[in-house]
Amino acid sequence: MSKVCFEIDRSLCQGHNRCAALAPDVFGIDDDGYAFTFDDGEVPDDLIDSAEDIVGACPEQAILLRTRP
Ligand code: F3S
Repeated sequence: MSKVCFEIDRSLCQGHNRCAALAPDVFGIDDDGYAFTFDDGEVPDDLIDSAEDIVGACPEQAILLRTRP
């Protein structure tokens, strides 16, 4: 079954932290201030409806949604 995942383009992330504020169970901020994802970035069921809003909340457009097999 395929799953929908958030991915961070680390070359674009500037550490605005909005992702981790909106979805702290999915996004973390590393010691350098840049985002990473927990658990492969899998979008939890309760965030499916707001996933696009979270993507849109990043001012650097560093968050992508991917469907993985
Ligand atoms: Fe980086 Fe965007 Fe999050 S700049 S810290 S991915 S809101």
